[in-house]
Amino acid sequence: MQRQPLVIANWKMNGSRLLTSQLAAALREQAALLNDVAVVVCPPAVLLPNWQQEVFYDAVHLGAQDANEHAAGAHTGEHSLQLLSEAGADYVLVGHSERRQYYGDSSARVQAKVDAVLAHAGQKLKVVLCVGEQEHERDNGETVKVIEGQLATALANVSAAQLAHVVIAYEPVWAIGTGKTASPQQAQEVHAFIRNWLQQQYAAAAETVPLLYGGSVKADSAPALFAETDIDGGLIGGASLEPDAFLAICRAAQ
Ligand code: G3H
Repeated sequence: MQRQPLVIANWKMNGSRLLTSQLAAALREQAALLNDVAVVVCPPAVLLPNWQQEVFYDAVHLGAQDANEHAAGAHTGEHSLQLLSEAGADYVLVGHSERRQYYGDSSARVQAKVDAVLAHAGQKLKVVLCVGEQEHERDNGETVKVIEGQLATALANVSAAQLAHVVIAYEPVWAIGTGKTASPQQAQEVHAFIRNWLQQQYAAAAETVPLLYGGSVKADSAPALFAETDIDGGLIGGASLEPDAFLAICRAAQ
């Protein structure tokens, strides 16, 4: 099945109103590119309204970097799916390794967030589930076991019908923000494993799921990564803060 390439910018706790205008302007000039490649921008939540004013909804979608699994209530500092959706988010990242490592997102919590996103009113939102092994796990030959465990837990309650609202990003933890990109072969091996695993669980519905690679993707490393059979695009951190670099990465996904 032909899946549309997808490139997601994850600004993490970076960016500004100025950068919002700059990247939005750069993207607006790329109508032809945006016909071929779906682009999602996940700024810090407070910048979503600024992005909302800039966008051109058919071409560029917005995403949230995280969401609380509860609908509302006494959760100081958190953001509900309802508010994120009202602020323009169509996608929600869940299970990013920084959330898992530093902010208490256990496997159970990741599962609860996946379920909450997919249950959100009208199934309007898509979840971008992030999975990835740490360096010592790769060194110990445990990569596939770790990825399988993360997928099995996070998607435990997800039906084949819901899979149309799921994107999976493979991000080896050792490659995130380190400048150490996985080689195209290393990434392809894991992506092929993920695709096979999805096929075993969900049969034909697995074909719709975009599989993204993330971890120090730059303009010069993107073409070889995106040329791999099972890599449908990227989840881009640092390079998404530089409009020229980000656009070059989007072009590499065409
Ligand atoms: O969400 C994005 C990833 O964590 C990759 O970040 O491109 O800065 O390594 P990076």
